[in-house]
Amino acid sequence: MKRLLLAMAVICAVACSTPKSEVATEVAIIPQPLSLVQHDNNFTITPATALVCDAAELAPIAAYLQEYVAVKSAESAPATNYIALSLDSSLAEEEYHLSVSNDAVKIVGGGYGGVFNGVQTLFQLLPSEVYTKQMPLPAEVQGCEVKDKPKFAYRGFMLDVARTFVTKENVLRYIDYIAYHKINKLHWHLTDSQGWRIEIKSHPDLAKVGGFRGGDSPLCAALGKWNEKYGGYYTQEEIKEVVAYAAQRNIEVIPEIDLPGHSAALMRIYPDMLCNYTNDELAVNGNYDSRGVVCATKERNYRILEEILAEVCALFPSKHFHIGGDEVNMSQWKKCPDCSAWLRKRGYTDGHKLEDMFIARIQAILAKYGKVPSVWNEAAFGGGLSKEALVHGWKSAKVCKEVMMKGYRTIFMPQEFFYFDMRQSDHETGPVWGGAFDVRKTYSFDFEKQGFSPEEVALVEGFEAAYWSESLLSQGGDKSLDFIDYQTFPRVCALSEQAWGKNGGEWEEFHHRLYTRHYDRMADMGLNFRITPPNVKYEDGLLSVEKIDNSTLYYRDDVTGKVRKYRKAIRTDKPAKYLFWAEYRGAKSPEVAHKSHYKTIQPKVKLTSSIPENPKRGYDRVAKYANRMDTQRTCHAGDWLLFEFEELVECRKVKFYAGYFTSPSRLFPAGYLEISEDGTTFERVAELNEVGQVELINPRPFKAARIVATASYIGGSYIRIGSPEIYPKY
Ligand code: ACM
Ligand code: ZN
Repeated sequence: MKRLLLAMAVICAVACSTPKSEVATEVAIIPQPLSLVQHDNNFTITPATALVCDAAELAPIAAYLQEYVAVKSAESAPATNYIALSLDSSLAEEEYHLSVSNDAVKIVGGGYGGVFNGVQTLFQLLPSEVYTKQMPLPAEVQGCEVKDKPKFAYRGFMLDVARTFVTKENVLRYIDYIAYHKINKLHWHLTDSQGWRIEIKSHPDLAKVGGFRGGDSPLCAALGKWNEKYGGYYTQEEIKEVVAYAAQRNIEVIPEIDLPGHSAALMRIYPDMLCNYTNDELAVNGNYDSRGVVCATKERNYRILEEILAEVCALFPSKHFHIGGDEVNMSQWKKCPDCSAWLRKRGYTDGHKLEDMFIARIQAILAKYGKVPSVWNEAAFGGGLSKEALVHGWKSAKVCKEVMMKGYRTIFMPQEFFYFDMRQSDHETGPVWGGAFDVRKTYSFDFEKQGFSPEEVALVEGFEAAYWSESLLSQGGDKSLDFIDYQTFPRVCALSEQAWGKNGGEWEEFHHRLYTRHYDRMADMGLNFRITPPNVKYEDGLLSVEKIDNSTLYYRDDVTGKVRKYRKAIRTDKPAKYLFWAEYRGAKSPEVAHKSHYKTIQPKVKLTSSIPENPKRGYDRVAKYANRMDTQRTCHAGDWLLFEFEELVECRKVKFYAGYFTSPSRLFPAGYLEISEDGTTFERVAELNEVGQVELINPRPFKAARIVATASYIGGSYIRIGSPEIYPKY
């Protein structure tokens, strides 16, 4: 109720103020401040405005502010026309007061972070051009008083640069984006099975070899880069540069070296660190070993790990050091005579006891270098983990609660709200194992609805969102950040609201702040953000979409390809034919259509193959359109899949899957599609794309379709096939 009253007070303050020309009258800050009172006496920034800063430690913030707003530094405040940055030790570290009067803008913070937060709020009181660093002066700052502080100390974003490398320049750019949203932690996922991205001087091959996949690398390529060697890593100098850049922006960088699972990259460089058994998981003709768990009982492993971790500790000032602990494949330890003997000797049967021991050993190593571990939630249940550790709860809110009840400081990041690599609606791209959700769902996370009492909420350390980068490669990879932008914004805006304490109202109130003011800001930041799509309605022969924000609506006739601005409802008896979307200053919503557009047909079909089927998920599943069938072995050049239909199929679109997007290492790496009208004579019509899929638009009628592999898949032990997707004629 208090929250609601506050939101109403803000809306009233906005609505009741007198509009002034040239000034955007409606203050809309993201994240919503704790208290904001708007008034009429604006401040005008001119080239003569002085910037004064009352503490030497605030100089980096002054320099930062001057990159965006062309004001001059002054030693002391003049009588009028100045911006003042100062400290007040009676405020909490990240707390700030911001006042804008005719004479001055004053930002008082409890510490560096508080002043920085005040500067971000100041940016949002200015025209959005401030983010272009070319805002013309004079510029008006809306008069107001803000008293604000974050509810949660930890407001994080996890960037996975291991699965797909992200260049240093793009990491810096991303740090800017999250800093604009008062996010104060970057959890940097630097290693995983698919890559090692940080230079280790005592073990140079880790990055020099393990930073690259494909080609002659011992690391298997994925998702469309089958023959090309690709990747990258950061030198220690570059790491220091990123850490310093982030620190200036009130962001602490927490490194992650993911252990003891998710470590295949490390294992490919140092196979001796694996458990003591001969690999039996090799592909028939492959030369990749997919084992990725560090043997927990080899003493030498702890010496190597200490050498590695000591170097990483020295590069990061953060007290916390994330050591992973997630998804350890216990079967590798169980097969190891040494690891299984360790368990037996102690009367244990549960492999997690080995993980507890491993985590405790790594924790002791970190302690020597003054660090405390952060871990994924799996590692919090053993008992050996220090109560000083931070635990990242990714599985669910329920698991977060269990971790918290064990007395751990917990970062909330349940995947179904905060895994921003997940697709944002059913028909968009991206993985979906955590569910398809968009900004609205992230904003909807609510402690009360999740069964938390206010006392329990008081124990929460903070929030974090994650961006896992395996699917990034298929979207242009490290060449651009556009896909990360699209997947993460505006979801980061909702993360920021949650982590700040969710001082705003319901979705409509937040969405209003987003589209009335923040769309412009994100456009000027240079972000390729996603716009919430309009809803499609079909009633009485009229197909319509409703305008839900200030973007422009378009539609496309899927038959003629014609694009038009949407002005009024379309009279049609074929609603499936039209696709709609919204655009605002270069940003777009996904295309949306009436549900009939997505309808598929399921003609009778039989699948046979040169590869034997896996009886557990056999080829008869194709007749049931059950979607996933598995082969018994991996694929060799020349292997084929034959789909035979009972009747001639006529359709507007058909898609065949010799691979599955969510299983990037189990697909035909290259091949082509042939179709046949009579079931015996085939014509080659298209090539498989890099993820084993092929689509035909308006194909001629076919009775059979055959996919032929032109390359062998190296690594992996089976291929995951999907049912064909067949769309009827309009
Ligand atoms: C995780 O998603 N394995 C932390
Ligand atoms: Zn072992």
